[in-house]
Amino acid sequence: MMSTFLYAIFPYLALALAVGVGLYRYFFDRFSWSSQSSQLLESRVLYWGSVSWHYPIVIILLAHLLAFLFPTGWGVLLGRPLRLYLLEATGLALALCALAGLGLLMLRRAMHSQLAAVSTPLDWIVLFCLLLQTATGILIAFTLRWGSVWYLHTAAPWLWSLLRLNPEVQLMTVLPLVVQVHAVNAFVLVALFPFSRLVHLVSIPITYLWRPPQVTIWQRRS
Ligand code: HEM
Repeated sequence: MMSTFLYAIFPYLALALAVGVGLYRYFFDRFSWSSQSSQLLESRVLYWGSVSWHYPIVIILLAHLLAFLFPTGWGVLLGRPLRLYLLEATGLALALCALAGLGLLMLRRAMHSQLAAVSTPLDWIVLFCLLLQTATGILIAFTLRWGSVWYLHTAAPWLWSLLRLNPEVQLMTVLPLVVQVHAVNAFVLVALFPFSRLVHLVSIPITYLWRPPQVTIWQRRS
């Protein structure tokens, strides 16, 4: 019963919340659609934490997505031991870098008195879920070799079964607990997305790339 909820109902609930509440916020509360930058309060640690977190985690998510979208090609890519070791080692190095970045961002928020004062409980819940996600990912990579291969025959088909609206719960229930926590927590993050700073994920200001440059001119009275 619990596994039916976790692997056949909860993912749809999380997605419905993400899309429904996300669209509501976008159309009716547009100015809240941001991550409310804390750069003015502190910028040095933010830079190092943010860079070490964002670049590696985006590449890791891209690898998750590619393996999900092109399982056959991904399988061929990993068909040679050297390529498998290189990919796993790169994934692990990136994940450790992301963990360090996230740690920095969390410490910064806790240690800086003004930042701690403006942080909400939801900010902390999201940060702890991201920490759990990254830590369980690293634990899987360290202890359950070779995740990039068995992912193609377990988690990826489960995700596809969700897309086909015919969830194959048994594909996930046979996996070790740490993998189940990793998979369920991913959907917890999806559910939290529209209520939290995570909405900035889909509000990257890409128009900066083509809009005319803006020049700020300070006018000081002497
Ligand atoms: C919010 C979404 C997610 C994030 C941020 C995330 C993050 C991570 C990280 C940091 C790693 C370690 C990277 C490595 O060592 O290669 C990892 C590995 C892994 N993740 Fe995720 N993950 C997410 C969603 C998922 C989902 C939905 C599944 C499957 C249901 C999944 C399955 C796996 C598996 C099997 C591994 C081990 C890969 C390996 O050993 O090479 N992840 N994940």
